[in-house]
Amino acid sequence: MLPLAELHLHIEGTLESDLLVTLARRNDVPLPTYDPAELTARYADFADLQAFLDVYYANLAVLRTEQDFFDLATAYLTRAAAAGVRRAEIFCDPQTHLRNGVPLEVVFGGLGSALAEARANGLSADLIVCFLRDLGGEAAEELLRAALPFREHFIGVGLDSAEVGYPPRLFEAAYGIAAAEGLHRVAHAGEEGGPEYVREALDVLGVERIDHGFRALEDPDLVVRLREERVPLTVCPLSNVALKGVPRIEEHPLRAMLELGLVATINSDDPAYFGGGVQENVAAVRTALGLTDDDLAVLARNSFGAAFIGDEERARGLAEVAAWRRSTAG
Ligand code: ADE
Ligand code: ZN
Repeated sequence: MLPLAELHLHIEGTLESDLLVTLARRNDVPLPTYDPAELTARYADFADLQAFLDVYYANLAVLRTEQDFFDLATAYLTRAAAAGVRRAEIFCDPQTHLRNGVPLEVVFGGLGSALAEARANGLSADLIVCFLRDLGGEAAEELLRAALPFREHFIGVGLDSAEVGYPPRLFEAAYGIAAAEGLHRVAHAGEEGGPEYVREALDVLGVERIDHGFRALEDPDLVVRLREERVPLTVCPLSNVALKGVPRIEEHPLRAMLELGLVATINSDDPAYFGGGVQENVAAVRTALGLTDDDLAVLARNSFGAAFIGDEERARGLAEVAAWRRSTAG
């Protein structure tokens, strides 16, 4: 199996229907149905990003206790390790949980314990705290200040949720604080928003990676810049199709990104909602775009190159990719 680093994964988006029902029963939270298959069937046709987010946020009401967050993250980490993930950089949305009355110590306590256990089992993993962009810049600053006492639990900040109408510049102050704290910085941009969102995330927020970013391809000058500055793009093919950013997987621009020399990586975004984890994403583009083993090795190498890890861990990941490529050459 292709070894890689997964760099774009929302822990809340890994809440599979079985666990959703278990947690709803455990915490006495009502669901529209308690049949996991029926819940999953409802994810078949999202009109757009907002339609997905409405379901995603509603489901998160079942997460109440440290144990719930531990169970959620442990389920993902176990699946990821079995799917060739060697390094996971995991987004979390604390503002959602605060809105549901769940304090930060519960969120970080549960997720932190799960990550510690995964590390003890050989999977490298860290958290990136995301700001919900539709709550605005002041709320982002407020969240970051409240999260700083839990600084040992996260390595960076990100920006997610509804994109259009919430440009990166609204978050300049929050990202300034993050930079001063030595935190890594990434942001969703160019998913529903145009190339100007990508440009602004780079120029105003100083991000080190762009999450999604496929709409950058509409701007040739920006493409040149992304290539020259080797800005990684964390691409999520099944998500892009599920949320109608790309009409069909056969039309996904991932192959074009590779041909343009962009540092693309492959990721699952919200695997419980979009048809599978990172290996399902790999399989989908491999078939639909006719990617070769060399292309997959480039994507995997890019993932270790773009990960927030030390030189030794990076070298180990790259060596594993080389070994995988040799094993498929036979
Ligand atoms: N939150 C979870 N998944 C997201 C996505 N694909 N875009 C924006 N916010 C998200
Ligand atoms: Zn995302």
